[in-house]
Amino acid sequence: MTAAGHGATVVRFRHDDPEHLEDLVRASEPGIPRIIAMDGLNSMTGNAPDLAPFARIAREHEALLYVDDAHGFGVIGERSEAERCDYGARGNSVIRHQGLDYDHTIIVGGFSKAYSSLLSFIGLPTRLKEALKVLAPPYLYSGPSPVASLATTIAGLDVNEARGEDVREQLWRNTDRLLRGLRELRIHTPNRSGFPLMDCPTTSRYRLRARNASTSSDTPASTSGNGRSRSPPRSERSTIRRNSTSRRLISARSTPCP
Ligand SMILES: Cc1ncc(COP(=O)(O)O)c(C=O)c1O
Repeated sequence: MTAAGHGATVVRFRHDDPEHLEDLVRASEPGIPRIIAMDGLNSMTGNAPDLAPFARIAREHEALLYVDDAHGFGVIGERSEAERCDYGARGNSVIRHQGLDYDHTIIVGGFSKAYSSLLSFIGLPTRLKEALKVLAPPYLYSGPSPVASLATTIAGLDVNEARGEDVREQLWRNTDRLLRGLRELRIHTPNRSGFPLMDCPTTSRYRLRARNASTSSDTPASTSGNGRSRSPPRSERSTIRRNSTSRRLISARSTPCP
């Protein structure tokens, strides 16, 4: 929405479908900056896309691959001899976990999940960084990150250095136990990765839509005291959010870019 508000053309491609993306990129107007935006570790399913074909498309079509790995950062990382579990080592994000480089890539990571700190970062090509420094309103007009958040981030990085592999191994064990338990109980979760993010929808989106349709028009119980619609229960909200998480191809028409 923000991108569209700034004049970008936003085009959606089918989930996990690089061929569809490539068709759209080929059909887009050449010579304008294009960004392929997607999640790393998905916040609702816990699954990560195979990024290699998307990275190839970005390279070959002179686009940028923008990966938001707020949930992967701190948890999954490079495959190495130091790793103690399938999450890899160091928690340095999905890009490293999949052995990719940063060519034509923007990586966004956050400290609010694994590090419980109010901070995030963006890794990007230098020319774009220079442009954002003079064009991005949050960078221009916001105050700096609170010192307390910087302090907890530094403490978190120290913990990661000292015993990050222990913590990840324990997390992996806990997740594995939970996933096995869910399987035994025949509770569905879309998590296929074993990464520690799990959504257990308790109703299908079709039933949810039907229920919303019937409650919004005629059931007083669906409104709260102030007359606004009540939110669905948490599990159903999860389903809505999961379904609205899609990936986007943004073809920026008016955003100046060096
Ligand atoms: C994919 C993704 N990116 C970014 C964020 C924002 O995280 P925060 O504002 O907590 O740093 C979230 C929040 O859950 C998210 O799911």
